[in-house]
Amino acid sequence: MKVLVVGHGGREHAMAWKLAKSPRIQQVYVAPGNGGTAQDPDLINVPITDLSLLRQWVIDNHIGLTVVGPEGPLAAGIVDDFRSHGLRIFGPSQAAAQLESSKAFSKAFMHRHGIPTAAFETFTDPVQAHAYVDSRGAPIVVKADGLAAGKGVVVAMSLAQAHAAVDFMLQGDALDVAHNSGGARVVIEEFLQGEEASFMVMCDGKSALALATSQDHKRLLDGDQGPNTGGMGAYSPAPVVTAEVHARAMREVILPTLRGMEKEGIVYTGFLYAGLMVSPDGQIKTLEFNCRMGDPETQPILMRMKSDFFEVLLAATSEGLEHIEMNWHRRVALGVVMAAADYPMNPRKGDAIVGLPRDQEDAMVFHAGTTQRDSQMLTSGGRVLCVTAMADSVRQAQQKAYQTASTISFDGMQMRKDIGHRALKN
Ligand code: AMP
Ligand code: GLY
Repeated sequence: MKVLVVGHGGREHAMAWKLAKSPRIQQVYVAPGNGGTAQDPDLINVPITDLSLLRQWVIDNHIGLTVVGPEGPLAAGIVDDFRSHGLRIFGPSQAAAQLESSKAFSKAFMHRHGIPTAAFETFTDPVQAHAYVDSRGAPIVVKADGLAAGKGVVVAMSLAQAHAAVDFMLQGDALDVAHNSGGARVVIEEFLQGEEASFMVMCDGKSALALATSQDHKRLLDGDQGPNTGGMGAYSPAPVVTAEVHARAMREVILPTLRGMEKEGIVYTGFLYAGLMVSPDGQIKTLEFNCRMGDPETQPILMRMKSDFFEVLLAATSEGLEHIEMNWHRRVALGVVMAAADYPMNPRKGDAIVGLPRDQEDAMVFHAGTTQRDSQMLTSGGRVLCVTAMADSVRQAQQKAYQTASTISFDGMQMRKDIGHRALKN
């Protein structure tokens, strides 16, 4: 079978890399892909981003399965469109993708179905939003409603910061948020304390199969300082997700979400990602839902996957996942993001990347914001690379990832030096 991965990030490079290992796959295509997928002899880039042109290309080229990486095409309805043309595609429908594409929808949904999450209110009127901030006090969290590539959240430690966030989210357009109907909207919510984990499952419309756990590093700078980003590094498994927390996440978050969706007439298929806050006593609250795999979490997760990813996706889009069991390497995988100058606000493009090492089975440089020009690799986006390594412990995986990254450089490169720090403290 021929398979298409939609997207151009590090997550999609990792998905395509993993799929290409399946003996049952004839060819893996990536649309549009990046510099890394372009140079991989096992992968072919398809330079199409328009969804109806892509659908026609899929029909013309007899692609047997499409898997969607990012939220944009899902929120735009790629799954509904492909299915209506009889094509096999793994992902949620546009209606289901609202769990990610609208924070106001997802918070109201959680409230309706008793899914644990921070107390919140939603506003379009800045006067009311400011008044709410004053009535609740700081710290407090302000979130833009629409998709913002992980940058639409301000964890305000002071009232001044919270007021400023309300103003720039409701009045400015600095973040490039994809507004939902009705225009700019914010969710203002209670500040939660604890340790975060990324909890992902695959859904076939009936059952949910958990992937390996992971932990992201959302802040730009070491010690979890600086602005929120799409994620600066991740590792798998996440020790904070004990067996008990795992069972709780399935029982209190994932299954009620699938049942709640069903009650509202929406069948959930595709990846579902719950960002969890785990308190010291093991209680969990849902920070957010994503309707896709995480980036950069996917890179370490797929490195640890022993099962044939293609077989699992095939089952998820045919007979179902109920009888599928996934196997994982017991080792730890850890990925370090190398980001462009001025990421996340205004990433610079066009810097030459030098010193890329040769790929190894357990030390891979997954590309994200790169493009190949002649024989040069250039930066073309905020998160440029994710250097991912697997070893017997968090410390060894960390050493190996940083060692692999050490030869790589480009002007203005930003990289955290402490990915995995929480697991090392435990
Ligand atoms: P989100 O996109 O909603 O996951 O938010 C991005 C990041 O902001 C999360 O990964 C957390 O680090 C932080 N965050 C979001 N909501 C809260 C909250 N209620 N309390 C504390 N931190 C939060
Ligand atoms: N790394 C967080 C996300 O993919 O949303």
